[in-house]
Amino acid sequence: SARKKLVAGNWKMNGTLAANAELLHGIKQGALATACDLVVCAPFPYLAQTSAELLGSPVTWGAQDCSAHAQGAYTGEVSAAMLTDFGCRWVIVGHSERRQYHAESSALVAAKTMQVLRAGLTPIVCVGETFEERDAGQTLAVIESQLRAVTSALAQAGESQWVNRVVVAYEPVWAIGTGRTASSTQAQEVHAFIRAQWRTAFGTSADALRILYGGSVKPGNAAELFDQPDVDGGLIGGASLKADDFLGIAASAK
Ligand code: G3H
Repeated sequence: SARKKLVAGNWKMNGTLAANAELLHGIKQGALATACDLVVCAPFPYLAQTSAELLGSPVTWGAQDCSAHAQGAYTGEVSAAMLTDFGCRWVIVGHSERRQYHAESSALVAAKTMQVLRAGLTPIVCVGETFEERDAGQTLAVIESQLRAVTSALAQAGESQWVNRVVVAYEPVWAIGTGRTASSTQAQEVHAFIRAQWRTAFGTSADALRILYGGSVKPGNAAELFDQPDVDGGLIGGASLKADDFLGIAASAK
């Protein structure tokens, strides 16, 4: 397709200064041979290190969350504007671990998405169903409702250029960190549905929307997933903590 593939690493709550230095060095070395866009999403305290290590490489970086507020008395929160001071280009919003463990609603995820866009950054908006929801045949209904919160907020904002900046990640909760990946057919079905929803909301800009798959992506299964017509790359958890695995996955993103 005309969409350039994107492979983003989500380190989650992992890393040390020493381990990150080695990992980032490895990624930087391998990035020169990579055809896709490569992104690293590090924990907040390591963004300065990430920016220093990756400066001058084709790899860009971002954060894993940000506040729904612009600034002010929100103890412990990090604003999207602060992330721009560290050279971030991307912010993951609405990851299922935040929806599950931090009770983030779709409305909150939409508010965070708007803050990210307002700061000039690119949100990677995560959606995905649980095992119980898939089992009950509710997969597409869940995706539709999670996505609608964001498309409604975007429509309301009336900033048409924001629509073209958003990236969506489909992450079935049952496939995250479990070693159980969605089959390429299961992934393609949901990705096509997400693109159709986007088309209903925003017309032909759906053709440019990048939709990533996340959930136990490994070097051995990436090619088949990325070969699907509506899979435009991946959001990689565990396998993004080893340079060889991360680069092996990126090598399948052509
Ligand atoms: O954001 C990444 C996803 O949660 C996938 O994690 O690759 O460890 O399954 P995983």
